[in-house]
Amino acid sequence: MPLIELKHISHSFGTPPDLAARLAIALRLAKPAPRVRAIDDVSLSVRKGEVVGLVGESGCGKSTLGRVVAGILPPTSGSVLWRGRDIKTLSPSEWREAKLRVQMIFQNPYASINPRRRAVDIVGEAPRVHRLIDGNFDAFVDEQFRRAGLDPALKRRFPHQFSGGQRQRIGIARALAVQPEFLVCDEAVAALDVSVQAQILNLFMDLRERLNLTYLFISHDLGVVEHISDRVAIMYLGRIVEEAPAEEIFARANHPYTQALLAEVPRIETTKRSFAAIKGELPSPLAPPSGCHFHPRCPHALPRCRTEAPRLKVVAAGHRSACHLNDFSG
Ligand SMILES: Nc1ncnc2c1ncn2[C@@H]1O[C@H](COP(=O)(O)OP(=O)(O)O)[C@@H](O)[C@H]1O
Ligand code: SF4
Ligand SMILES: [Mg+2]
Repeated sequence: MPLIELKHISHSFGTPPDLAARLAIALRLAKPAPRVRAIDDVSLSVRKGEVVGLVGESGCGKSTLGRVVAGILPPTSGSVLWRGRDIKTLSPSEWREAKLRVQMIFQNPYASINPRRRAVDIVGEAPRVHRLIDGNFDAFVDEQFRRAGLDPALKRRFPHQFSGGQRQRIGIARALAVQPEFLVCDEAVAALDVSVQAQILNLFMDLRERLNLTYLFISHDLGVVEHISDRVAIMYLGRIVEEAPAEEIFARANHPYTQALLAEVPRIETTKRSFAAIKGELPSPLAPPSGCHFHPRCPHALPRCRTEAPRLKVVAAGHRSACHLNDFSG
């Protein structure tokens, strides 16, 4: 059974028109307020112990999906299943418990950390409120610091007295302190120097082994998720366009968008980095292109791509892709 499962999730931002607004629109006295369909019919499941990478350009809906997974944002439609149960059917205490089990780690820990509080309080507050500490508070916090690779001797410092990498470790220690099973890491290493990135990625993988954690690992950079993901899902303008085991994505990408993303990942084995950015600009999510959203940028687009949205289809074991070209092969 998956630990978490998303079924046909959509999410739009912006207020839907009320009766008066609908009337005004019908009488052509007003224009409908723009609504962004940040997520469009996404289904995705993550098994216990698995690391799923979620990749796509900025603005494609990754953070919105991450917030839905973490229970912070209720989707406009679709269902979220936690351990096989629709979260809408959970009792208030079951819901609180489920929300603690899923923790989010952000790109900028400053945005989610109170700069006027000492590290010890940042890490210790939630477990104290939720009565998760049965023993000595300081010993508990010290243990969380050590798990995140921080020296407990630094715990009385304020956030600004730590380096960027150390601050991210405080964010990790704070998340671990409530004994989560599932971490949603949203661009968790994007703001760090490359060498620090590698250390934090190693920490995540180490924690996965030691604490049996499950991850949704969100990044705009395919290269970042390559070595830590079991499975990778590629998003484009609110839709998942390809999903496969990580080695399959890197060896046999099916979707033209994934292929374009791969061309931008610097490879050690190739001497020259391909700087050819994906052709054209990312279209506005307010008015996504018809049919296959990728058609204005796709080098293989067919006339049909402009009118008909391709569905995700199985192209190999565990490998799904949404591209009309697959109708011609095999
Ligand atoms: N709170 C919000 N209000 C209105 N629009 C939003 C909000 N959050 C995100 N969006 C829009 O939803 C789309 C997806 O955003 P986001 O999920 O942050 O993408 P990503 O994380 O991939 O960069 C974007 O067009 C963004 O502008
Ligand atoms: S469906 Fe058409 S436009 Fe979309 S990726 Fe495939 S070939 Fe390109
Ligand atoms: Mg984001």
